[in-house]
Amino acid sequence: MNLQNLNQSKQDLIAKLQAVSSEADLEIFRLEYLSRQGSIAQLFETLKTLDGEQKRLVGPQLNELKKEIQQLFDDKKEKLFQQKIHAQEEKQKYFDVTISKPVAKGSLHPYTQITEQIQNIFISMGFAVADGPELETEFFNFTALNVAKDHPARQDSDTFWIDTQHLLRTQTSTVQIRTMQTQKPPIAIIAPGRTMRNEATDASHDFMFMQFEGMYIAEKVSISNLLATLKSFLTQLFEKEITIRVRPGYFPFVEPGLEIDASCPFCTGGCSVCKRTGWIELMGAGLIHPEVLKHGGIDPTKYSGFAFGFGLTRLTMLKYQIPDIRLLHSSNIQFLQQF
Ligand code: DAH
Repeated sequence: MNLQNLNQSKQDLIAKLQAVSSEADLEIFRLEYLSRQGSIAQLFETLKTLDGEQKRLVGPQLNELKKEIQQLFDDKKEKLFQQKIHAQEEKQKYFDVTISKPVAKGSLHPYTQITEQIQNIFISMGFAVADGPELETEFFNFTALNVAKDHPARQDSDTFWIDTQHLLRTQTSTVQIRTMQTQKPPIAIIAPGRTMRNEATDASHDFMFMQFEGMYIAEKVSISNLLATLKSFLTQLFEKEITIRVRPGYFPFVEPGLEIDASCPFCTGGCSVCKRTGWIELMGAGLIHPEVLKHGGIDPTKYSGFAFGFGLTRLTMLKYQIPDIRLLHSSNIQFLQQF
């Protein structure tokens, strides 16, 4: 740039400024032309060396140039600043909540999957899901269920006693009494949950396992109601026609007490699951003992009911062909990812 063709210089600077599109480039422009060491300041230095006549001629032109470029520079600076703010606002306004870093995907534990399946089957038959505490009293776990004081299950070898009155429930049958005490017949509930027994751990035993309780109380409930309900349930669960077999069994809280076996859902005559018998032992059941109804505050002369209970852990192992209970309880991601 020189003082001879200020007009041309001005046009060049205007064009350069127009081309600037970032704050960084604008700063480069400022340093080059508008700063104290910049070209325009240098022109003023040169102006000083001119004689009076020329100074009067060129001075106002140079002042004009400086003023105009400074004004255009300020405008540009403001414009770029506003653009930046606007861009930030837009980004916040439209930020995409679905954009995220990839995270490891989990899956539902087999217990959760099968519990949901079973619940859905029973809910479709009109049952409600009930719950009870895992830390129980001796009354709900034993006395109310008609388990005699000298029954071996009361010994320390099976039960985790907390103190003389409290224990970790050994069966979900506790929920039967708790429900009877808070609801009036007709009652139809199921109660899946954790149970604890003081057992040595091996491939088929653990100190914690899942059970699944069912109970129906109304007028004139019979064994046929029980068998029809169970057959319908098992057929839906295994998605094939299941035949049930009934044997007498003893449980203090039912009379008569039954052991229910199902035709093996995995074969048609013999496999390793049913140990080549064609039958699998599935659950305990029966008609609720009048003493138990009384403990639940229900009149046994007016109402009767059935109850059943099965090992949800065992059923899960059967359904998913899991050979070792410890796999189910191990939180091993590789194992769990299969389901
Ligand atoms: N509570 C029993 C157990 O842990 C299972 C059971 C048997 C539950 C018979 C019942 C029943 O409701 O009627 O072995």
